[in-house]
Amino acid sequence: MKFQLKIWRQDGPQDSGKFVDYSLEDISSDMSFLEMLDILNNQLVRKGDEAIEFDHDCREGICGSCSLNINGNPHGPDTGTATCQLHMRRFQDGETIVVEPWRARSFPVIKDLAVDRSSFDRIMAAGGFVSVNTGNAPESNAQLISHDTVESAMDSAACIGCGACVAACKNSSAMLFVAAKITHLAKLPQGQPERTKRAAQMVTQMDAEGFGACSNTGACEAACPKEIRLENIAQLNRELVRAAFCSK
Ligand code: SF4
Ligand code: FES
Repeated sequence: MKFQLKIWRQDGPQDSGKFVDYSLEDISSDMSFLEMLDILNNQLVRKGDEAIEFDHDCREGICGSCSLNINGNPHGPDTGTATCQLHMRRFQDGETIVVEPWRARSFPVIKDLAVDRSSFDRIMAAGGFVSVNTGNAPESNAQLISHDTVESAMDSAACIGCGACVAACKNSSAMLFVAAKITHLAKLPQGQPERTKRAAQMVTQMDAEGFGACSNTGACEAACPKEIRLENIAQLNRELVRAAFCSK
């Protein structure tokens, strides 16, 4: 397959950046999108040009490192799929593909397609521990949790922290990410210590990082590679009401 690529190049946070055109030939339809970028980078390096910066790590939809707005869609055209799991067969032979970084004030561009998502780390750090007595691992059946509760908590825990929800939202809201993190702990007995404090602190940090308010359009849910549901945001709002009445 061949492709025309319009790729965002930006030297650093202070550079204004611009699209640069590239042509690629002999791309296998079975290649992933990131493998296609690897081929392009190999060609650039062989010519003595600078490689295009982009984030990746596991390349199997687990770590949340990959990003990329592809033809205007966070993680590209497939639903429930991270950029690293997207294949070139999803594009037409000869197609022009526009590749940009996440666009959000709270995710400043570091270089080219790589953005700084440490604002998510700071939100996690604001609420990310519980006070429990440590010791030997408890007996596995000591705390029974219903199957439905476990499944529901695990659905929320599937969030990989990629930031596509922010990139898709016209307000750059981080509500879906924060809601997933708060909800999965709120549903389990292990998450009850500091439950309300955690919700209030994480939301306070989310606001301090400059993320916008929820737009209620559901663009976040549509873009999420882990199909985190909007119900998590409803649960987050319930947790905030609870926090207003209870300080534990
Ligand atoms: S909610 Fe979905 S889109 Fe947002 S950070 Fe988590 S996995 Fe990524
Ligand atoms: S590289 Fe890890 S989720 Fe895509």
